[in-house]
Order: sequence, then structure tokens, then C-alpha cells
Amino acid sequence: MENEQEMFFNKTVAKEFAEHEQNEKNYATAKVFDIIASNFLKTKRPPYHTTDIFAGAHPDRYHNLFKILTETNSQIDWVDYSPIMLDLAKEYLQSCEDNRKQTINFINKTYLDYLKSLQNETLDLILVKYSLDYIDNLEEFFSLLYNKMGGNSILISTLTAPSNTLKSHSTNAKYFFKGKPIPEGEERKLKDGEKFTIKFFKESGNPNSGLIENAETTKYYFSQNVIIETAKKQGFNVSCGDWKQFTKENKFDFDMNVLILKKK
Ligand SMILES: C[S@@+](CC[C@H](N)C(=O)[O-])C[C@H]1O[C@@H](n2cnc3c(N)ncnc32)[C@H](O)[C@@H]1O
Repeated sequence: MENEQEMFFNKTVAKEFAEHEQNEKNYATAKVFDIIASNFLKTKRPPYHTTDIFAGAHPDRYHNLFKILTETNSQIDWVDYSPIMLDLAKEYLQSCEDNRKQTINFINKTYLDYLKSLQNETLDLILVKYSLDYIDNLEEFFSLLYNKMGGNSILISTLTAPSNTLKSHSTNAKYFFKGKPIPEGEERKLKDGEKFTIKFFKESGNPNSGLIENAETTKYYFSQNVIIETAKKQGFNVSCGDWKQFTKENKFDFDMNVLILKKK
């Protein structure tokens, strides 16, 4: 799997990727997660065991959540299989003036190894931001997750691949299917569970600028319906829709679907 996600294991590319993530949409998404997560934790008694299982480089978000975790002596497991992304996370953490450092437990494991290492019924809150599409076997993931979540617990995830139609490129990346680039003007229809690869342009918005070396990532397509039905089959109570359904926030103007899995 590491080969398909080489960019997270290459110091130069991972750093560039992390810097690209310092954009308005990424901040806004983190803010939405922060609101949903904090409101949820207020309904439960501390201390809380929380986790981000594809955590990446940015613990410089989630200000309300970190405040709650700090004040309640709670913890967040910051899980990522790339030691480079975890090192970047530690660097970004230096810029945070509060004492959130105390609450973060950095864990260098795959999400599966991490979940398997936990005792059953221990997690209160799981964050999966821009990463659900790295999961190739949803049934295995949801089943394991369900066992590891305690009573009255939730997972919050973005849903980023609403369409099964892959074009030749997006604004910032070129698409590959079955190892081949999709020719200009053509499309490929993805079936559930099929994977596709994204390679990033040197200049966003300029397909003629060439591709950044080693900056590629492979993802798995699952329709929203299959994601929802698979989660329900494992026993989850599923809510899914535009983020505005889940917060009273009105400052941001962007579309993004959020998935919330609840274990009662
Ligand atoms: C697209 S980034 C998203 C990071 C973060 N959630 C965010 O929104 O900024 C995906 C992250 O997941 C990590 N990752 C990918 N596959 C993984 C796996 N199987 N287990 C653990 N981490 C993984 C990568 O190293 C990378 O840091």
C-alpha cells in the first residue's frame, strides 16, 4: 500500500502537500468538524478518548475540541502511518499557543493496526477528514470500528467523492484509471470498490505545467449509498448530508457532505 501512497513517504512532497492544505476550504472543513465534535462531547461525561485515524500534519485546527480535551484531562490519538506526516504535525503544533500538546498522543500505525490494538468499546469520537476514500474494505473498517466505539459515540467524516464519473483532470490534478491517464474529453465510470490514481499538476489550474514528481495518491470509489448501507449493516445509526445540516454556522460558503455514524 505504501507504494500507492508514496507522496506521504517522501519528505519534500509531503511537506509541499501539507503546505497546500493550509487553504481556506481546509480550515473551514476543520471548523465544521470542530463544531460538530465539541457539541457532541458536551452531551457526554469526560474524560474522552478521541482519535483522528488519518490525522496528517495539522493539529493547528480544532480549537474548541482541544480546549475541551485539555480542560477535561482527555486525549486524542493522532494516528498516521507516515512518520513524515507525524513529524510535520509536531512542527505545526509548535505554532499553537495553548497547551493542546498535553492531549495529543502521536501514533505511527495504519488505521487498521491502530484500531486492532485498542480494547473494545473505548472510543468516544473518531475524526476522518478527507480520507474515507483511502479505505478499500468498508465492511472490515465499519465492523472493526463498531467494536472499538463505546456507547453513545460518533464518527465524523467528510464525503469527498460524490460522483462515479472520472474525467481526464480536475483543477489541480490528473486522473488515472487502471494505470492509464484518462484522455482529454473522455470519462470513465467507476464501480464501487474500484481504485483510481490522482497525480498533481505543478501549477494548480494549469494542466500544461506538468506533474509534480512522486505526488500521486490512489483512492477507492464507493457511492454514498453503498457507504451508508454498509455502515447501517454493521449497526450504525447513519446521518449524511450537507454540513450545514449539522451546525448553525453561517460564516462559510462551500459545499461539502458530511457522514456521521452513531453507535447508541
Ligand atoms: C489526504 S491526507 C488528510 C490528512 C488530514 N486528515 C487532513 O484533513 O488534513 C491523508 C493522510 O492519511 C494518511 N494515511 C493514508 N493511508 C493511511 C493508512 N492506511 N493508515 C494510516 N494513515 C494513512 C496519510 O499519510 C496522510 O497523512
